[in-house]
Amino acid sequence: MSQRTDGIYSVLSIACLYRLVQRIVGAEKARRIVVRDYLKPRSGETVLDIGCGPADILTHFPPVHYYGFDLSPAYIETARRRFAGRGEFYSRNVTEIQPSDLPEFDLIIMISLLHHLNDEEAAKLLSNLRPRLKTTGRLISVDPCRIANQNPIAKFLINNDRGQNIRTSAEYQALAAQAFTYVKATVRNDLLNVPYSHAIIQCTFNFVAENSDESPLS
Ligand SMILES: C[S@@+](CC[C@H](N)C(=O)[O-])C[C@H]1O[C@@H](n2cnc3c(N)ncnc32)[C@H](O)[C@@H]1O
Repeated sequence: MSQRTDGIYSVLSIACLYRLVQRIVGAEKARRIVVRDYLKPRSGETVLDIGCGPADILTHFPPVHYYGFDLSPAYIETARRRFAGRGEFYSRNVTEIQPSDLPEFDLIIMISLLHHLNDEEAAKLLSNLRPRLKTTGRLISVDPCRIANQNPIAKFLINNDRGQNIRTSAEYQALAAQAFTYVKATVRNDLLNVPYSHAIIQCTFNFVAENSDESPLS
């Protein structure tokens, strides 16, 4: 695992401080946009959230069968308290998740997780999860990314992130393409209240026309 947890980063392990910092930079607005424009969860779907943190994303979801996994016991404890009855929450390192114990999912999400994993860990996780995604399902990741001529503030924030594996959008896409047939990458520079770039990676087994109403890739 490649995540800084020392010094100033240790305060972010405290769930309420993590959520305060997230609120200041506009993470809530970002989640709303990501859910509306990319995740598009439907009522009754089975959803797996790897690196779920305190599971803040659930406030934007309709009723779903939700499974959240995170390394941090404190984040998982907060999620259990806040969302009792709305999901199942487990404190696990991604390397300890046994995919065969899990059901099949309509939607697998990793919001700001892959940049905490090195290439080997990320590729293994994606290929382990592949059999757990329904043939009609989608896996979507969102991570900070490097872009050419990046805004200096974004560059500073990215260089000082807790995750040590921030990639370009093409690099995230290449990782996902090792496990999935169709991989679409989108860069957004407008999700936070501060200059920042995100790569949104959408993976499916079947090609989905972009202009289809049913498309998870639009
Ligand atoms: C930036 S936070 C994002 C949390 C949440 N997805 C959100 O959007 O608020 C990244 C999360 O990934 C978790 N994480 C990092 N490395 C992990 C690993 N190896 N296994 C499981 N979770 C991990 C961290 O504990 C942290 O909660």
